[in-house]
Amino acid sequence: KSLSTYNTFGFDVKADLFIEINSTEEFKELLNTTEWKSNPRLLLGGGSNILLTDDFHGLVVVNRISGIEIIEENNKSVTVKCGGGENWHQFVLYTLKHNWGGLENLSLIPGTVGAAPMQNIGAYGVEIKDTFQSLEAINLNTGKLEVFFSEQCKFGYRESVFKHKLKGQYLIASVSFQLDKANFHQLKLDYGVIKNVMAEKNIEHPSIQDVSDAIIKIRQSKLPDPAEIGNSGSFFKNPIIDVAEFKKLQNEFPEIPSYDLGKGQVKLAAGWLIEKAGWKGYQENGVGVHQKQALVLVNYGEGKGKDILNLAKKIQDSIQSKFGVELSPEVNFI
Ligand code: EPU
Repeated sequence: KSLSTYNTFGFDVKADLFIEINSTEEFKELLNTTEWKSNPRLLLGGGSNILLTDDFHGLVVVNRISGIEIIEENNKSVTVKCGGGENWHQFVLYTLKHNWGGLENLSLIPGTVGAAPMQNIGAYGVEIKDTFQSLEAINLNTGKLEVFFSEQCKFGYRESVFKHKLKGQYLIASVSFQLDKANFHQLKLDYGVIKNVMAEKNIEHPSIQDVSDAIIKIRQSKLPDPAEIGNSGSFFKNPIIDVAEFKKLQNEFPEIPSYDLGKGQVKLAAGWLIEKAGWKGYQENGVGVHQKQALVLVNYGEGKGKDILNLAKKIQDSIQSKFGVELSPEVNFI
């Protein structure tokens, strides 16, 4: 089975065995089969954060668990539970349609709801941990459904326990969010670009829909649509360094963008570092660095996962030697 439509880079690698599951029951049944027990396994959501470097000799399982339901509601807020296989952006649109605030800044992020907690997806000043209530995940060893609350997920910047200690041990069946009824919602408009769009449109008191529209506009202006050019969003994480190291860099590059995290730590913009090192728009072997956002690596159609891997290594080496900064991939390599 070709996985070309199951990874947003669009790489045409093959899986020996392939199945889509539509419910937790179906998944539990799968856990008892020999196909599951006797093969390496790869669990997929929207395939928007993986780099497939070769054919997969094992079983690929795509999570298609669907359904959205209200679990709890009062006059100020609502707790809504969403199946792990639902498309993230469609879910965000659903919450906007119901006038629930909290996810508007996370509009247009590719991928599925079940994959979102894996790396605590975030954009424009909001991360899912901010509205996360709990998740249900099937333990692959016991077949039992377990509930995880925020503390247990150990969310960090593009991090969770599911990328570390519990890696490869759970399938995320559903995620619940606590969202505000619009009148009780505090918008997050800290990012200058959001304010610029509001000013352009003469919107003084934005609604959650206005914020979502602005985010969609901003994302579309610099991030390539995976349906047109294969990509996986930001390929690297923004590096976090300590203040002393930052001061040295700032001496040499006074215009370097930075974000003070407190506790002696500073976050840098990987996209700026990569652009400054001359990589923006670079192409080789059918892959390259996006012209409008240097943090995004793209497949122009002819490339292979290995070509992205090689390019990523070259970029990491170049950033290390020019700035002494280590770039870690955000994308998972398979
Ligand atoms: N920059 C450049 N050149 C570039 C790209 C960026 O100079 O080619 C500079 C920008 O001018 C700006 C700074 O870098 O000063 C930050 O750029 P941007 O606002 O585009 O955001 P980012 O840090 O590159 C992060 C997330 C994105 C998220 C945006 C908005 C990570 C790894 N990426 O990107 O998330 O949408 O902020 O909040 O944290 C993703 O994870 O896949 C993703 C797209």
